[in-house]
This record gives sequence, C-alpha cells and structure tokens, in this order.
Amino acid sequence: MKKYKIAVIPGDGVGPEVIAEGVKILDRTAALDGGFSFEFTHFPWGCEYYVKHGRMMDADGIERLSQFDAIYLGAVGYPGVPDHISLWDLLLVIRKRFDQYINLRPVVLLEGAPCPLNGVRREEINMTFVRENCEGEYAGSGSWLYKNTPREIVIQDGVFSRHGCERVMRYAFDLAAREGKSLTSVSKGNALNYSMVFWDQIFREISAEYPKVETHSCLVDAASMFMVKDPKRFEIVVASNLFGDILTDLGAAIAGGMGLAAGANLNPERKYPSMFEPVHGSAPDIAGKGLSNPMASIWAASQLLDFFGHADWGKHVLKSIENTLVKRQALTPDLGGRATTAQTGEAILKGLVNTSPRIYCSDN
Ligand code: NAD
Ligand code: IPM
Ligand code: MN
Repeated sequence: MKKYKIAVIPGDGVGPEVIAEGVKILDRTAALDGGFSFEFTHFPWGCEYYVKHGRMMDADGIERLSQFDAIYLGAVGYPGVPDHISLWDLLLVIRKRFDQYINLRPVVLLEGAPCPLNGVRREEINMTFVRENCEGEYAGSGSWLYKNTPREIVIQDGVFSRHGCERVMRYAFDLAAREGKSLTSVSKGNALNYSMVFWDQIFREISAEYPKVETHSCLVDAASMFMVKDPKRFEIVVASNLFGDILTDLGAAIAGGMGLAAGANLNPERKYPSMFEPVHGSAPDIAGKGLSNPMASIWAASQLLDFFGHADWGKHVLKSIENTLVKRQALTPDLGGRATTAQTGEAILKGLVNTSPRIYCSDN
C-alpha cells in the first residue's frame, strides 16, 4: 500500500484550526479508498516558535522537510513578528528552496458559494491561475542604502529569468492544451519596460509551440477590471508572482471569499516536495474563535489528492464542499452561517462517507 509522508505546518492564527479539518479529510479518503494511507508529521514552526526560539523554523528545517512527499501548510504571519521576517523565513523559503515554481490557484465559483457580482452566471467564473512562484517581484533582490539617513535609497529588483518565464508559461500552455481552454497572459509591458516586455516576448515565443491554444495578453490593470466586469474571458491565466498574488485575492472575492480560495505550490518534476495551502493568511481578526472557514484548506487537500494521482478523490472532496455549500446547514460566518470551523469540517467529512467516489465519477 502506498504511504504518503506529509509534513504538516499548521502555522499561525487560524492556520491550526483549518488544517486540523483538512487532515481529517485526507485520513478519511485514505481509509475509504483502502489503497493508500497518510503519515502526518506536525512541525510547530511559525510566529510563536519565533518568539520562543528566535527563528521561524529549525536550522535543519529545509533538510527535514525534503524527506517528505508533500507539505500541508496553514498560514504564516502574526502581529508581533514583522511580516517580512516571518514570511521570508518560512513560507517563501520553502517555495524557493523546493523550486515550487508553479502556484496553481483555482478561481471557480462552486454551486452555493456567494458571489458579489451582478448578472454573472456561476459557470462564468471558472479559471485557473498559474502564478510564477519563485522569482519575479519576489526575488528578494535589492538594497537599502544610507539606511536611516535623509539620503536613504531603497531598490527592490524584479528578477525575470528566461528559464523561469519559459517554464511557468509552458506549464500553463500544457494545461490549456490538455483542458482545451484559452490562455491569458497578464502583463504590464506598457510601463515595466524591461521585465514585462521580456515576459511578453517569451509568451509570444512559447505560444508558437502551441498553435492550437487560443491566447490573449491582458494588462494587469485591465485584467483586474475584466475579472469583475466580464470574468468569463479568463480560463487559464499565467501571471508573474506579484500580479498572480493580487489577482487571486480578487479571484477569491468573486468566487466565495477567502474562506474558499486554495492553492498548490508545485514542483512539477517532483524532485522536491510540493506544498498545499489555503490562499488566505492567519486572519488575526478571527483567530482562536472557531470562526474560520476550513473550505479553502480542505480544497487544498483535494489538490494534494489530485497531485498524487487520486483525482477521483480530489473531485469527491470538492463535491462534498459544494454539497455543504448548497445545503447551507454548516456554514461559517463568512458565508452567512453560524457553524464553527469544526462543524463545517465535520459536514464535509460526512459527505465523503455517504458517496463512493467511483459512483460520483460515473454520475458525471
Ligand atoms: P488574511 O487572509 O489573513 O485575512 C483577510 C480577511 O479574510 C480577514 O478579514 C480574515 O478574517 C478573512 N479570512 C481569511 N481567512 C479566512 C477563513 N478561512 N475564513 C473566514 N475568513 C477568513 O490576510 P491579512 O489580514 O492581510 O494577513 C494576516 C497575516 O497573514 C499577515 O501576517 C500576512 O502576512 C499573513 N498572510 C499569510 C499567508 C500565507 O501564509 N499563505 C497569506 C496571506 C497573508
Ligand atoms: C499568498 C500570500 C503570500 C504571497 C505572502 C504571505 C508572502 O499572500 O500566498 O498569497 O504573497 O505569496
Ligand atoms: Mn496573497
């Protein structure tokens, strides 16, 4: 029987609450399937750990994580520890060191999920963001000269390598070709006269390799407007690290809220572990009260199942989230309900018991 070794980093704020529900879901899918199992190892890393030990993770943390098949992460960052320290020393270092250069973020309006847009049909919000995840505006290159003097100068470089752009675009083209969908590249070539002109050039080059894929290029400011006014334009979307970050929070807003936005940080070559996490942060405003919606983290668990070749279970988990939304009996306050995190998790778990994924798949 295949055993998947999963490193669990619940992290800060609502992270532990939502991750606990996702772990239960993964365990249940394994038990129901009978052909695979999970072994979870929890790591206490995060801001509390930083306050006690002066570091976000152990010195050999990356080496230890490299022994796992995947990482399941809650959220990182909490008031009291500067965000650029907590994120750079845990979340971002994992994405970079494990070359998780694809950040796959579905923006799909599930049945029953609230949408603030008028006159938009549910099927019209169905996109997949392929966000570059290792370089670009997040390269961490720059300098701070004459710090704390009147002359101080800050430079933050955007780093766009040919290798980095080509591989994220090829991934997006392959996905679009496989799914028979269009691909939109998000740009800002009118103002970013090096990075985005280069990005556009590489997008044109790679598109020549995929003559059957319909392509579009959209400036990021216009893209944010069209996501609200005409979201059906977007199917597969490829974007740089920062543009992808911003547009997927906008995506969350039109597809049910932060409590429903999931993401997979993939190393497609599987040389290193990939990481699965909700898009949202630690939500300090609601942390510790059982108010957080676990659907995003459970959706990320469904992406983990997909990645390990159990797409039937991945779909089944998603269907159970959708059924829970439609029934409206176990929704957290962000979705207008009064259920706790655990009650919502339990409802999704129950949905799994009642249906076999094979029956579910053959129905569809
Ligand atoms: P946030 O995503 O934590 O919260 C934004 C809003 O969404 C808040 O009102 C919050 O209550 C709500 N929200 C988020 N998740 C929710 C859930 N599961 N259910 C219901 N409501 C939810 O963003 P923020 O407030 O800008 O950031 C808080 C901290 O998290 C910061 O330290 C930030 O750097 C960090 N952060 C971490 C990650 C990550 O670890 N991947 C992502 C984003 C932000
Ligand atoms: C996300 C988060 C991170 C990002 C932050 C916390 C560094 O916002 O995963 O979307 O910008 O990638
Ligand atoms: Mn973000």
